[in-house]
Amino acid sequence: MQRSNGGLITSSNTIHHTHHLARFIRATQAEPSGIASVIEWGGGYGNFAKLFRRLHGGAPTYVIVDTPLFSCIQWLYLSSIFGRGEVELITGVDTPIAKRKINLVPITAVEQVPLTADLFVSTWALNESTPEAQRYVVERDWFAAAHLLLGMHDGEPLIGAACQGGAECLPVGELMPHQNYVLRWGNVSRTPPAQALGAPRTERDSPRLRWQPVSMQRRRPTRDEIILGDNLPVLDGLDDEGFQLIYVDPPFNTGKRQSRRSLQTIADAEEGDRSGFGGRRYRTRLLAESSYADHFDDYLAFLMPRFEHARRLLTASGTFYLHVDYREAHHCKLALDEVFGRDCFLNEIIWAYDYGARAKRRWPAKHDTILVYVKTPGGHHFDAEAVDREPYMAPGLVTAEKAQRGKLPTDVWWHTIVPTNGSEKTGYPTQKPEGILRRIVQASTREGDWCLDFFAGSGTLGAAAAQLRRRYMLIDESPDAVAVMRARLAASAESA
Ligand SMILES: C[S@@+](CC[C@H](N)C(=O)[O-])C[C@H]1O[C@@H](n2cnc3c(N)ncnc32)[C@H](O)[C@@H]1O
Repeated sequence: MQRSNGGLITSSNTIHHTHHLARFIRATQAEPSGIASVIEWGGGYGNFAKLFRRLHGGAPTYVIVDTPLFSCIQWLYLSSIFGRGEVELITGVDTPIAKRKINLVPITAVEQVPLTADLFVSTWALNESTPEAQRYVVERDWFAAAHLLLGMHDGEPLIGAACQGGAECLPVGELMPHQNYVLRWGNVSRTPPAQALGAPRTERDSPRLRWQPVSMQRRRPTRDEIILGDNLPVLDGLDDEGFQLIYVDPPFNTGKRQSRRSLQTIADAEEGDRSGFGGRRYRTRLLAESSYADHFDDYLAFLMPRFEHARRLLTASGTFYLHVDYREAHHCKLALDEVFGRDCFLNEIIWAYDYGARAKRRWPAKHDTILVYVKTPGGHHFDAEAVDREPYMAPGLVTAEKAQRGKLPTDVWWHTIVPTNGSEKTGYPTQKPEGILRRIVQASTREGDWCLDFFAGSGTLGAAAAQLRRRYMLIDESPDAVAVMRARLAASAESA
């Protein structure tokens, strides 16, 4: 519904934008009239630009980057309000940005947009842009504008990128639950925000935005990266078959916080294993058949889409390692059989340690399980000779030469936990020993191969990969984990 309101055309969209501007001004004590230039990423119908210019009272140089269709809609709307002379549609790379006007830049002409502006605005459009477009925005350093007004979903990795540059994150509140404003008014701290998404290392690496159909816009990493955010959307933005090794060590029972997935019975005339109403054949998915306690349902419902991405992201010769607690291992094994296929199961590794208190009324549980699946049965890379050897248990029973060389590890790995005062200790609560990760990286990758850990914690996979000259991508939703990884991997990069 739209109503006339003193020259402003009002709609619910305008009410939202009024709220955004009001909160920005209240939280930052901003003076819109002092802003000479604005870049807005994704301007929708042009409502925010309209309100901002009205409030400003003058004529800032305002640039909106959007899809060509929305640039046209904005032109119709904004020129009907401010007059045709006040709004420029930038039609090609030769059209300069008009000072003190509203410039509508279709993304195809984005190279025309100035490098800097006083204020950078994006109210949720950036969240909904492709990962490649997000990276482009960050790497053009628009988050380093003196003033910042962003709207972001909960858990959005870009929040970390903006906050590292000295912005404040506030919940929107009841108007839009689970949404946040990321705001800054001056006083930019000079940690380059681009670092939070893995900054380009050389000029050669610096960004260009390619305009492609959405389905083609998944990306491959080109440099080692540490990413802050929920792993699911990040995985979704990655191109197929980019990683030779994926190792994950998810926390127990994370699913409690996630929405429940409906787990189905699938009609399947050919392979259905049970009969239903009217004699129809059904195939029941594992998760629907199981009578797990609720938290296991939730846990597996949380993990399954991530496992599916893991399989998609592996190269044809790639290997997936899932590190789990002994209480979860059998549930996860069935889930992985479903995602990868039983013939892709390679090993169940038992990591045995001997540390901590001992139960008195049962056998003390002193092991973790690592389930190993390959993308292609028989077609996987496995280099037993590259693996660090271990001492024979009874060296007196083999030749001196053999005893000195040590033996190949089996699927039972005796290995200490991270020593409390050892140099690899980061203080991150669930940190796994580098020795375990070194074996995995040595056996299942070659130098230069890409490794992924999307529950990365303190970044143990990254540390092992860096030592062994492999590349890595590490994802974690905890800012503490990301801070630990940055410090840890900066140190390993320096000592390498
Ligand atoms: C058991 S720890 C990993 C420890 C790691 N292997 C190490 O050696 O330090 C699990 C990690 O998963 C992260 N995590 C949990 N849910 C996540 C999600 N949805 N997306 C990304 N990270 C998540 C947690 O923040 C935690 O750091």
